Amino acid sequence: MADAYQTHLWGGRFKEDEDAWMERFNGDNCATAWLIEPDVQGSVAHVEMQVECGMLTLQEGQILKEGLAGILADYKAGALPYTSDYEDVHTFVELNLIRRVGDVGKKLHTARSRNDQVNTDMKLFVRDTGRGVAGRLAHFCATLEQVAAKYPCIMPGYTHLQRAQVVTLKYHLLAYKEMMERDRRRIGNALNLLDQCPLGCGALAGTTHPIDREFTAQRLGFSGPCKNFLDGVSDRDYVIEMTGAYAMTMMHLSRMAEELVLWSSAEFGFITLDDRYTTGSSIMPQKKNADGAELVRGRTGHVYGNLLTLLTMMKGLPLAYNKDMQEDKEAYYSSWQIVSDSIEGMDRMIATMTPHPEAMAAAVKKGFLNATEVADYLVKKGMPFRDAHGLVGRMVLYCEEKGKAIEDLTDEELAGFSPLLEPDVRSAIDYDAILHMGNKKEML
Ligand code: ARG
Repeated sequence: MADAYQTHLWGGRFKEDEDAWMERFNGDNCATAWLIEPDVQGSVAHVEMQVECGMLTLQEGQILKEGLAGILADYKAGALPYTSDYEDVHTFVELNLIRRVGDVGKKLHTARSRNDQVNTDMKLFVRDTGRGVAGRLAHFCATLEQVAAKYPCIMPGYTHLQRAQVVTLKYHLLAYKEMMERDRRRIGNALNLLDQCPLGCGALAGTTHPIDREFTAQRLGFSGPCKNFLDGVSDRDYVIEMTGAYAMTMMHLSRMAEELVLWSSAEFGFITLDDRYTTGSSIMPQKKNADGAELVRGRTGHVYGNLLTLLTMMKGLPLAYNKDMQEDKEAYYSSWQIVSDSIEGMDRMIATMTPHPEAMAAAVKKGFLNATEVADYLVKKGMPFRDAHGLVGRMVLYCEEKGKAIEDLTDEELAGFSPLLEPDVRSAIDYDAILHMGNKKEML
C-alpha cells in the first residue's frame, strides 16, 4: 500500500487503499474551498495557544504561522490550487504545511481533531457571513426608509388582494422595513448563540495535553469555549438557526418580489422597474419582464430546501461527530449566497424603481376604499357600528349598480339612505382627509 500520509491525514491502521468510489464519495469535491481561510485562521490560533502553553517553542510556532500564512496567500494567488486530491480543506492545509516547512508541520495537529477543527471553521464562516448579511439588511432598511420618505402618496391597501382601505406607498414600504429589521435581529440572536469556541473539545473527549481553551476562544473572537466537549463537536444548531433566519428573510423578500411583479404589470401600473433589473423576450418585442424579482421569489425555495436538508441531516445523529455533518457545508453556503444576492438585488430594484402616484390614486378612487369611513361617520353620529355596516353595504350595492362612487351620490340619494348622512360626509370620506384622522396620521 502507498504511503497514505502523502495524501491523507490517516492510514497507519489500513492494509488497503481507499476504493476510487470511497475516495470520490467521501471527499468534498472542492466544494468547500471557502473554508480554507477560516481553517488557517483557526490553525494560527491553535499554534499560538500551543506556544503559550509550552507545547511548541516560539521558533516552531513562528515557522508554522508563516507556513500557514504562505499557504493561504498562495491559494488566494492561484499558485496552490485546492483539488479533489485532498479529502477536505483540513487535509489540504496540513499536508501543504508539512510539504512547506518539513517535520515541524507534523506538530500542528497536536491536541486537535478535525471534529473540533471543522466546527470552529464553520462557526467562523457562519459568523462572518451572518454579519455580512446583517449589514446588507441594515443597508436595505436605509434604502426602504429613503424611498418611503419620498412617497407619502395614497395607494390602495389590500386584503385578499381586493382593494380594502387607503394607505400610503410610504407606509407600505415601511412594512417591509419592519420585516427586514426583525430579520436582522434574528441573525443577531443566532450570532449570540454561536458565540462559543469548539477548539479543544478534541475528537469528542478533550485532550490530555495542557491546553488553554480560553486563549484560543479569545484569539478567535468568541466569548469563551464550548462548555461540553460532546456538544462542542456535534452542535450544528447555529448553522440551522442562521439558515432559518435566511429562510425567513427570503420569505419576506419573496413577498416583496411578488408585489414588484404585480405592481409593474399593466394591470396595476403602480411602478416601472428600472430596465437594468428586467429582461426581454426572445419572441415578443414589446416585453419587459421583472425577472430580477421573479428570481428572488423563485430562489426562496432553495433556501427552504436547505433548511430542511440541515434539520433532517441532524435528526437521527447519536453523539458526537458523524460524517453526515459534512453535508452542512453546501446547504449553508448556497443559502448564504442566495440571501445575500437577493437582498442586494431587492435593494437596487427598490432604490431605482419609478412609482406612479397618479395610477395609485386612480386605483384608490375605484373600489369603495372609503366605505369603512362612511360607517365610521355614521357611528360618530350615534348609529351602532353593525347597523352602519349594513347600511353602507346597501349603499355600495346601489353605487355599483349606478356606476358611482359613494362621494358622487347626490344629497338626496345620501339622505335617502339615512337622515344622518349629511353633505359634510363627503369631506369625512375624502381620501386625503381620511389619512389625517385618528391614528391614520401615522401612515403619512
Ligand atoms: N470534512 C469533515 C466535515 O466537513 C471534517 C471532519 C472530519 N472528521 C472526521 N473524523 N472524519 O465535517
